[in-house]
Amino acid sequence: MKQFADDFIFGGATAAFQVEGAAKEDGRGPCCWDEYMNRPGSCFNGDKASDFYHKYKDDLELANEFGINGIRISISWSRIIPDGSGEVNRKGIDFYNRLIDECIKNEVEPFVTLHHFDTPLTLFEKGDWLNRDIIAHFVRFAEICFVHFGDRVKKWATFNEPWSVAQNGYIIGNFPPSIKFDIPKAVQIMHNMMVAHAKTINLYKTMNLPGEIGIVHTLEGKCPISDKAEDKRAAYLDDTIANTFMLDACFKGEYGKDTLETIHEILKKNHGTFTVYDGDMDIIRTASKDIDFLGMNYYSSHFLQGYDGESKMHHNGTGEKGTSVFALQGIGARVSNPNVETTDWDWPIYPQGMYEMLVRIKRDYPNYKKIYIAENGMGYKDDFVDGNIDDTPRIEYIRKHFTYILKAIQEGVNVKGYYVWSLMDVLSWSNGYNKRYGLFYVDFESQKRYPKKSAYWFKKMSKTKRLVS
Ligand code: NOJ
Repeated sequence: MKQFADDFIFGGATAAFQVEGAAKEDGRGPCCWDEYMNRPGSCFNGDKASDFYHKYKDDLELANEFGINGIRISISWSRIIPDGSGEVNRKGIDFYNRLIDECIKNEVEPFVTLHHFDTPLTLFEKGDWLNRDIIAHFVRFAEICFVHFGDRVKKWATFNEPWSVAQNGYIIGNFPPSIKFDIPKAVQIMHNMMVAHAKTINLYKTMNLPGEIGIVHTLEGKCPISDKAEDKRAAYLDDTIANTFMLDACFKGEYGKDTLETIHEILKKNHGTFTVYDGDMDIIRTASKDIDFLGMNYYSSHFLQGYDGESKMHHNGTGEKGTSVFALQGIGARVSNPNVETTDWDWPIYPQGMYEMLVRIKRDYPNYKKIYIAENGMGYKDDFVDGNIDDTPRIEYIRKHFTYILKAIQEGVNVKGYYVWSLMDVLSWSNGYNKRYGLFYVDFESQKRYPKKSAYWFKKMSKTKRLVS
């Protein structure tokens, strides 16, 4: 008996900046990541990445050969509009037309994200998502994409992981603009992105196109490290800012009363606030009624300890296992849990957190319609031995997560597809080319692709619609 529905998607995920390369080709304008990665001292950049700009035909043939029937791609805003707000670049439109046609030809359905971290540099320098002018520019960009590609693209996401844009750029500081511990700015960024998201959903719905539209959120579980009340509170606070705040906006059309009070409690301890402008909530409310799906990225969960002090980051510099402490003023500290296995990059492997998140979505947001696991996968230092890559730990990781997805489906959560991060090895935002995630190994010198053991395993699953051992 099949465990997955016949129309379940076994997909692979990518993102424009991480795979395309061709950063200066055919009129593409710079994005914030080009500037960030080309600063003195940086060891890698996106000039070549996985050369998908030139190799997409081969990659899509390979995907088809391995039973992969869906691909997440994103559209580089600055390839379509080089400065983000001005002239349209015809060559950018042509590229995505070719790419989308090739996906369809190979029966690999495109799932297109409009913003996957790569804000055009010109707009980024004018204040990024803190400058509300960007909202109208983004909606215009989205409209151009809908007009040109909306006849063939049936799955759209407005944003990929707005929490990562806010948290990594304005709290952790490992994404541009590298600001640390500015929680008020991070909250404002999220709210502004929610308005842009909602306006885009509302626009799409007026265009009567033959597809669906949603958003992709990163949803990490937040677990108290012990039963102590202060640890539980810390987990709750982190969960509210990272998960509930934007889930409420997208699927309830408002920030819940408790959510808002909690956010203000955190903001107060950080001596700041955030502004909701006239009309914002009406736009958000309308979109929440029409949103078609939630894309959920899940890799890991955090363990929280109550902590009252100043924000700080601590690890031993090498990211060695069991050594991280990340404390957030007004929230608590994320600490290592010695009982939970981690990846080589110290990410706790906690598949039950994915299940808990799935059932919670069904419980707390009953109008969610459907969920795609839009990313899940394991960063691993793959060994390349005579053209073979034995990535058994990655297979184990993905298999464990699938077990919990099946459990959630059995309990009535409407999960319609899974996109492994990543289809092929890609450029990692913070770790360059040595943190590999792909089902296909990329030799970044020759740009040759080699299927890993996980690719063969994934193929068996997509062909049989069963979880294989
Ligand atoms: C989520 C992001 O969407 C993706 O771009 C990133 O590379 C993976 N996480 C792995 O960190």
